[in-house]
Amino acid sequence: MEIGKISWQSPSNIAIVKYWGKRDLQIPLNPSLSFTLDRCNTITNLDYKSGNGKINFLYEGQENAAFAIKVIKFIDTLNLEFLSHYDIIIDSVNNFPHSAGIASSASSMSALSLCLTDLERKFRSSEIDFLKTASTRSRMGSGSACRSVYPIAAIWGQFIQNPLSSNNYALDWSNEIHEEFKSLNDWIMIVDKAEKPVSSSAGHTLMINHPYRNARIIQARKNIVELIEALSNGHWDNFIRITEEEALSLHALMMSSSPGYILLEPESLHIIKSIQRLRSETHYPIAFTIDAGPNIHILFPDKYSEFMKSWLKAEYGNYVSHDRIIFDKIGLGPKKLQ
Ligand code: PMV
Repeated sequence: MEIGKISWQSPSNIAIVKYWGKRDLQIPLNPSLSFTLDRCNTITNLDYKSGNGKINFLYEGQENAAFAIKVIKFIDTLNLEFLSHYDIIIDSVNNFPHSAGIASSASSMSALSLCLTDLERKFRSSEIDFLKTASTRSRMGSGSACRSVYPIAAIWGQFIQNPLSSNNYALDWSNEIHEEFKSLNDWIMIVDKAEKPVSSSAGHTLMINHPYRNARIIQARKNIVELIEALSNGHWDNFIRITEEEALSLHALMMSSSPGYILLEPESLHIIKSIQRLRSETHYPIAFTIDAGPNIHILFPDKYSEFMKSWLKAEYGNYVSHDRIIFDKIGLGPKKLQ
């Protein structure tokens, strides 16, 4: 009887060039580039023993029917023959504030894919390209998750300037990032922690017949090439311009979908404007980005941390005193815990 446990911690990521719109089996309409985060993680434990393919899913040690259906459907789509020789129990825990309005699909789907791929590695005699396989599988759970398996930064989606780029898995982009950007902080201001009224999945689907679909694909392809250049040369101005253009374009695409919808709150706009004002007054390289939700990510090099703490205390004291900021930064990627 074979019995054991595998455990992986995997982070969330924040896209700078945003993946928005998909076709077929999780194939992105456009290439994307993200930074891997440090603090927002999922830990997934996988207990296995010889058996006949039973899968049990727990969320924070408890049965959770809604999550279990999603996870089992995901594992089914992977069609992993080796799993029929095991009974497994998956237990998943997020170590970032519960229901903070931060999507956990990237960290959870990548943590689970790493565990499954690790189990396969034990079972198979031949070598597999571990991270590439885990990235491909993560993508099937949640597109953006395929970028979470690498340290620092990753790109996903085909574009002609990079013949290695793929729609199936992400590439490790950690060696292409200038030192200037490696101390980047991502402080996430939680404007609203409620679950969003329109899911990312529904948003991706609305891109299929979107009137600006082709223009968006052209914009993202141009932005990824320019961003890659800015990140390798340490050019903050271009980085900030592309980052903010991408965040605003993402939300503009939501507003101009049919039906259109708005995920930003008045408070989100207030924060965006105060960040832009702060930048023009100080000339410090401080930018915002936004995911598919109302929360605002503030990006800046670590050497401005003390300054930013005082600024936030003065301007957004209620966020500081009510734990409505997640102090995250660029991270080193998933860790095998067991
Ligand atoms: O991976 P999904 O299906 O949750 O989509 C994520 C989409 C964005 O977060 C808005 C952009 C991105 O590239 O991560």
